[in-house]
Amino acid sequence: MIRVQAVEQFDGEFIIPGDKSITHRAIILNAAVQGEAVISNVSLGEDCLSTCRCMQKLGAKIDMQNTTLFVQGVSSFFSGQSLDCGNSATTMRLLTGLLCGKNITAKLYGDASLTLRPMQRVCEPLSLLGANVKTNNGYAPINIQPALLHGANIDLNISSAQVKSAVLLAGLFSGGKTSVGEPVQSRDHTERMLQAMGAKMVINGTKVTIENSSLHPINVCVPSDISSAAYFMAIGALKGKTLCKNVGINPTRTGILKAFDLLGVKYTLYNQKIVSGEKVADIVVEKSPLHAITISQKDVPSMIDELPLIALLCAFADGESVISGAGELRVKECDRIMATAQMICALGGDCTATQDGFIIRGKKRLQGGNVDSFSDHRIAMSAAVGLLSSVNGGHIVNEECCTISFPDFFEKIGIKAKNKGAGMR
Ligand code: S3P
Repeated sequence: MIRVQAVEQFDGEFIIPGDKSITHRAIILNAAVQGEAVISNVSLGEDCLSTCRCMQKLGAKIDMQNTTLFVQGVSSFFSGQSLDCGNSATTMRLLTGLLCGKNITAKLYGDASLTLRPMQRVCEPLSLLGANVKTNNGYAPINIQPALLHGANIDLNISSAQVKSAVLLAGLFSGGKTSVGEPVQSRDHTERMLQAMGAKMVINGTKVTIENSSLHPINVCVPSDISSAAYFMAIGALKGKTLCKNVGINPTRTGILKAFDLLGVKYTLYNQKIVSGEKVADIVVEKSPLHAITISQKDVPSMIDELPLIALLCAFADGESVISGAGELRVKECDRIMATAQMICALGGDCTATQDGFIIRGKKRLQGGNVDSFSDHRIAMSAAVGLLSSVNGGHIVNEECCTISFPDFFEKIGIKAKNKGAGMR
């Protein structure tokens, strides 16, 4: 449990860790291709370390020096491995797609939270390609047996970058063309990286078609993670002025900026450029009066991981906000609809959980209180922003879970003392 004191003002410049989604993909794809690659500014969160350990167990060599990885990939993997995906659904789902056409057996398992997350959504489309992947009644562990894959047309009924990526990775080792479509476009980091590595791929709206291709390794410089920067951007909007440098602003990830536009948050993007095929910018956010918003399903994929934080901002806004079409939040690291509503109420706000979202009646000032993170990193970090911005502060229970995506979050945001020398936070 950690005590968070309320602050009057919050300003600063922040260097945010590398993007978790891009780090996973840079490790997995380079580890699966013969040759060497250097990946810099990686996320050192537990999720990406799980991916690293899995790829090492499969035979790739990965050396780490600070936030740089030196990867020596392999074209065939060791068979018979038990792969611990920890808390990471991205690791489990992407690796199921990658391994099912690689002529090996493998078992993928994870922690208690990952074991509660739906895996049929990935195994079902993969079996349409001929994969032999078995779950335990729809949940991990996943057992993979060798199978000859063929192409297929897959229409997903949910928007999920993890499922889409799994199908694309399987399609890469299948005998024909594989298409995958989704209702609203989810993050497209896999498509961008595969294309940069030489994959034969056609993108038409929300449909992606891939065929068997030989890939080459690529060096990747990972941008800072907008999902992690979001907490520093939000506290700027509530309490002062913040600058986050070199943040990834891939349009499939910038729903938080759309939410800021609706809420009335004043922000500016500087130094926009393209790095390793991804758009980046420095983002300045300033304290602004917030107004109620309405968010519906079409906006959800681009802000899926930021929704607990966006709901929190709504708790400080003028009027009643409605967020709907976000039922996917129920199957994240915890039930994020329940956990977010409980967080806002524990802070003294007014939030009702609906089946697929929230109704939040804004109050401008929240008293603070004790918040349970439900061992979910995004709830813990949203709670920190809420408590810093509250009248009295309070406590977060099980805050250690932020190591999943942002190990030094509490030091960076000034809640815990830093043990390194002074400098840019
Ligand atoms: C991710 C995709 C999203 C997101 C998760 C990371 C990815 O999950 O919530 O944190 O890296 O592909 P879904 O694909 O299940 O929506």
